Amino acid sequence: MSSTVNGEKVYLFDSTLRDGEQTPGARLSYEEKLEVARQLARLGVDIIEAGFPVSSPGEKRAVQNIAREVKGPVICGLARAVKGDIDAAWEAVREAERPRLHVFLGASDIHMQHKLKKDPQLLLEQGVEAVKYASRFTSDIEYSPEDATRAREEYLYELLEAVIKAGATTINIPDTVGYAVPEEFGAMIKRLKENVPGMDKVILSVHCHDDLGLAVANSLEAVKNGARQIECNINGIGERAGNAALEEIAVALRIRQNYFSYYTDINFGEIYRTSRLVSKLTSISVPVNKAIVGLNAFSHSSGIHQDGILKNKETYEIIDAELIGGKAAQMCLTARSGRAAVMNQLNKLNFSLTDEQLEKIYGYFVELADKKKEVYPEDLEALVLDHLSFTEPRYKLDYLQTISGSTSVPAAIIRLKKDDDSISEEVAVGAGPIDAAYNAINKITGLSIGLDNYRLNAVTQGRDALGEVKVEMSYQDRTITGRGTSTDIIEASVKAYLDGLNKLLKLNGYWEKSN
Ligand code: KIV
Ligand code: ZN
Repeated sequence: MSSTVNGEKVYLFDSTLRDGEQTPGARLSYEEKLEVARQLARLGVDIIEAGFPVSSPGEKRAVQNIAREVKGPVICGLARAVKGDIDAAWEAVREAERPRLHVFLGASDIHMQHKLKKDPQLLLEQGVEAVKYASRFTSDIEYSPEDATRAREEYLYELLEAVIKAGATTINIPDTVGYAVPEEFGAMIKRLKENVPGMDKVILSVHCHDDLGLAVANSLEAVKNGARQIECNINGIGERAGNAALEEIAVALRIRQNYFSYYTDINFGEIYRTSRLVSKLTSISVPVNKAIVGLNAFSHSSGIHQDGILKNKETYEIIDAELIGGKAAQMCLTARSGRAAVMNQLNKLNFSLTDEQLEKIYGYFVELADKKKEVYPEDLEALVLDHLSFTEPRYKLDYLQTISGSTSVPAAIIRLKKDDDSISEEVAVGAGPIDAAYNAINKITGLSIGLDNYRLNAVTQGRDALGEVKVEMSYQDRTITGRGTSTDIIEASVKAYLDGLNKLLKLNGYWEKSN
């Protein structure tokens, strides 16, 4: 869904694949970069900064690949204000439908004296020459005076006038070290618009870092004062404390249209998916309390809030999770949550339970909520699937004890109760306590069942998370999956195995034979 409201468009320039990838440890492979770029195109960003091509041959090839494959957004390559960088960036983006070159050069006294060690006038000329050189290749040229918020403003006026004359079509003002505060930054943007000849002919952009936690606020203030492009990254990842978060900017402009009256072309329904993809591929997890895309952004935990939400969502909610393609608003249930809140969550999960079943699940829920402070919808779903078996199982776990340690042989004692109420107990050893428990079960049933796959996931987050085990088992020519949950992973593993076993027995007719 793209927002079509009155007002002016704000272009979103996504730098997840360039500044975002500068996050320590966030290096993406060639294929992963393409996957993210494709998703950014689906998300509807206007410009994708695909990388810094001169930095390595692999980076250049990855940007080239994105330029060839990804249609829709402008594809941009970053370059320092030197010919070699510009050549590499151009070779990388030239095959894009709409290529852009982004040239940057330090502009603050600190950068010019200590990093570049050159005279400001010479650097101004270098910037101008770089833009002229880039304009041999394309007319879409962005220029960034690095560390602009700590630069002398008169110098910026002169520099920006000169690079615009040389052919720059977007002027980007980077708050490279996240030093600016909103009112001051907004006023600076306004002065740049008023005092730089030619600024009215180009797009004024901002690029804010989050060192003081103000990147989004600074970007929005800049828009109010004349900026029409915001550079931002998915999940706010980026160098040091990161960059302005794309999802926060897009949703703030949308939810507070009444205040800002600008729009973006973002497909809001793709936000959540994009956030998850970037988090998965970069291995940078999204903080649970992160605005818009954090796990808790749409969950309500306090009893008073839950009560209000059940009566009218607007009491405590300004954003509908569905807007960003997330799950419907969640109540994070706690021991304080009543039956109504639990039932509401079960209905959302598409379970319609009888009063008797609800009572049973509520009992298990209270037990779990005592062990675990917050019960997420996924936990509740697991409880229902675990405890409301719709066919009576043949074997149920009656008792489990395992032994393991660095010097002992792993062993398990298992007692199972059959559907005819008989009890069987076995002891077995194994490669580990789970293997030992599975061997003990096989001894009881007399079946040698193959375990083809075993997966353990934390259903939710934290040390007290409910563990969910999924197993793929095979017997003769059948394969089946079993699932079990518990705060104890060995118990979850045994439950999963028994779940699969019971299904197998039923499918293989043992059930019928013995009944
Ligand atoms: O933060 C910065 O100054 C940059 C520039 C390259 C735009 O990332
Ligand atoms: Zn940056």
